[in-house]
Amino acid sequence: MKNLRNPQILASQYIEDQMIKIRETVKDGRVLLALSGGVDCSVCAALLSKAIGKRLTCVFVDHGCMRKNEAREVKNAFADWDLNLIIVNAEERFLSKLKGVTDPETKRKLIGAEFIRVFEEESAKLGETEFLAQGTIYTDVIESGDKNNVAVKSHHNVGGLPDSMNFRGIIEPVRELYKDEVREISGLLGLPDYITKRQPFPGPGLAIRVIGEVTKKRLDILRNADYIYREEITTAGLNNDINQYFAVLTDMRSVGVKDGKRVYDYILALRAIKSADLVTADFAKIPYEVLEKVSGRITSEVDGISRVVYDITKKPPGTIEWE
Ligand code: XMP
Repeated sequence: MKNLRNPQILASQYIEDQMIKIRETVKDGRVLLALSGGVDCSVCAALLSKAIGKRLTCVFVDHGCMRKNEAREVKNAFADWDLNLIIVNAEERFLSKLKGVTDPETKRKLIGAEFIRVFEEESAKLGETEFLAQGTIYTDVIESGDKNNVAVKSHHNVGGLPDSMNFRGIIEPVRELYKDEVREISGLLGLPDYITKRQPFPGPGLAIRVIGEVTKKRLDILRNADYIYREEITTAGLNNDINQYFAVLTDMRSVGVKDGKRVYDYILALRAIKSADLVTADFAKIPYEVLEKVSGRITSEVDGISRVVYDITKKPPGTIEWE
C-alpha cells in the first residue's frame, strides 16, 4: 500500500488513529456533517460512522441542481453504514429562489444562503449537537494561509456556515491529507468507486452549468445530456485520465433537423479538462470517434438540443466552469 504524505503513516494506521482521536474528542456527544457526496466529506462520514456510529447525523441537501441519480447514489453509498442520514429534498425551494436569475454570482449567493437556511432548520430539529464535522483537506489549510485556524469550509464558496450555529468544536478528520490520499482512504474504507473517484463538482451544481435562467426543464435537459457524456467517457476508458468532464447547457439556440422536421433548440457544450491543481488546465484531447458517439447520442436521445460543440479553451484564459 502506498504511503501517505507523511511516510511514517500508513493509510490503515491513519484510519485507526482518526477513530481514536474522534472518540476522545466527541466522548458521548453528537456530530453533524453536511454531506454533499464529494469524496472529502464522504470519507469524514465513513470515519465518524466507524468511530461513533449513530451519534453522527449527516444532512444531504438536494438543491435540485444535482447530476442525474446523484441523490440516490449518496443514499446507496451509505445504506449499510451505521449513521443517521437525512436527505432533504429542497428542489422546489431552491428553484423558486433561482426563478428569473441569470447572473452567475447571484446564483451562487442565493444557493449558498438557502443552503445555510436548510441546514440550520435541519440542525434545529435535531436539538443540541455538540460538534460540526467538515471535510477540510490539507490544500484548504494551505490556501487559507493559517495552518491553525481554517474558517468553516464553504460548501458553496459563499460564506460557509454561520457563526450563529454554536458548536462546541469542529472535527476535521481529513485535514492532514491531500486529495489523492483522501481517495486512497476512501477506497480502503470500502466506499464505492463513484465516491472514491468522484470528480470535483461545484457546490451550486448544475445551476452554474445551465447558462441563463435555471428551470427544472432546462436542468433535466442538461442532466440527461451530461449523463450520456459521462457514460461514454467511462465506456471509452477515459474517465481516469480526465480530471473533470461535464456538459453545459448554453442559452443560445440553433436550427437543426430532427426526424425530418425543423427544430430550433439549445446548443450544448462539452467540457473536459486535464489539470494537476485546477488552477491551470488544458482541454482534453478526446478522440473524435468518442465525441462523435456522444454528439450522436445526445442529439438523438435528448429532446431540446439541436447541436453539440466541444470547448477547446485552456485555463487561463478560460475558466473550467462556464459561469
Ligand atoms: P474555475 O471555473 O474557477 O473552477 O476554473 C475551478 C474549480 O472550482 C470548481 N468551482 C466551484 N466549486 N463552488 C464550488 O464548490 C463554486 O461556486 C465553484 N465554481 C467553480 C470547478 O468545478 C473547478 O473544479
